Amino acid sequence: MLILGLESSCDETGAALVAFDPGSAALPRLRAEGVHTQIDMHKAYGGVVPELASRDHIRRVVPLIRQVTLEAACALADVDVVAYTAGPGLAGALLVGAGAAQALALSMGKPVLPVHHLEGHLLSPFLSADPPEFPFVALLVSGGHTQLMQVQGVGQYALLGESIDDAAGEAFDKCAKLIGLDYPGGAALSRLAQQGDPRAFEFPRPLLHSGDLDFSFAGLKTSVATQVQRLQAVSGSGAELSDRVRADIAASTQAAIVDVLVFKSMGALTRTGLRRLVVAGGVGANAELRAQLSAACARAQARVHYPELALCTDNGAMIALAAAMRLQAGVDHPVAAGPFEVRPRWPFASLPAAAPGFSV
Ligand code: KG4
Ligand code: ZN
Repeated sequence: MLILGLESSCDETGAALVAFDPGSAALPRLRAEGVHTQIDMHKAYGGVVPELASRDHIRRVVPLIRQVTLEAACALADVDVVAYTAGPGLAGALLVGAGAAQALALSMGKPVLPVHHLEGHLLSPFLSADPPEFPFVALLVSGGHTQLMQVQGVGQYALLGESIDDAAGEAFDKCAKLIGLDYPGGAALSRLAQQGDPRAFEFPRPLLHSGDLDFSFAGLKTSVATQVQRLQAVSGSGAELSDRVRADIAASTQAAIVDVLVFKSMGALTRTGLRRLVVAGGVGANAELRAQLSAACARAQARVHYPELALCTDNGAMIALAAAMRLQAGVDHPVAAGPFEVRPRWPFASLPAAAPGFSV
């Protein structure tokens, strides 16, 4: 079966083709994928402008679909199911991908499958060269979410803990902005951190010893803001911070975020008794997080899996893959194209599960 997956929940338009054999346990294969990121367009505003995002998705989605069919050397008529991100995300942006998927499917007489964006992230490491096996603990770290989940199989997800305020990616981005880096500053902050001293500033590790698996990152941003103001006051009102100081702040901020993510992830492995960790979402691209998690898992004799770097941030491949894995596992079935809605605040916990009632 050939699945076309479309992603348009925020500031990336993605299209991809994934193939799988319904009768076999073999993992789905990525046939082609293309992404267009709007980061340069939103930079000038310091964040995503929803209306601009929707309009750009409209411009990009059809050329991207054309690009992936060409790359996979197949025709649109070969597509069996059109999958799309139905939520969570920006309502207008989601409507573009959903509308394109529905229109395409309706015109071809093919069914559709709405996909949860976070399930796409969570399953994305199955497209990597070192795919995981169920069960595992998943650390989902994106711009909008920070969650630890116990994953027994496709559709069997139980929340172990989550951020009670800012997401990890949001913390990276807000702290990056405080030291003058463009939106979304996560990757830029981590590059700058390479030249800094992670022990230069002692930023808080919120909820580190709370005894649960929840996170809180809002206080870190406040602490970094206070430190920046203090340093600027010392060197003259509003003065620019030196490159050295900015690099030290970047390294110390990253160390605080990574420490908490690693500590809680290892706590989740202990609590569940599982020996396998899967990392997903944009912050999963962070090199320091990968290095610290790999070291901690090696010490705990646990395995850790990451998505390919290109599939950490939003993309269509993870949406096509999630649809393929849901269909292959028999958790879901495609529905006829027709009237539809998107779910900007779709809770992950409400996904139809393979084994109803699974919880921890
Ligand atoms: O998963 P994603 O593409 O979008 C959401 O679903 O939110 O994640 C984007 C987030 C942004 O906050 C971005 O700054 C962060 O991932 N990010 C990083 C890195 N690359 C992307 N954060 C830290 N280090 C990175 N290398
Ligand atoms: Zn995402």
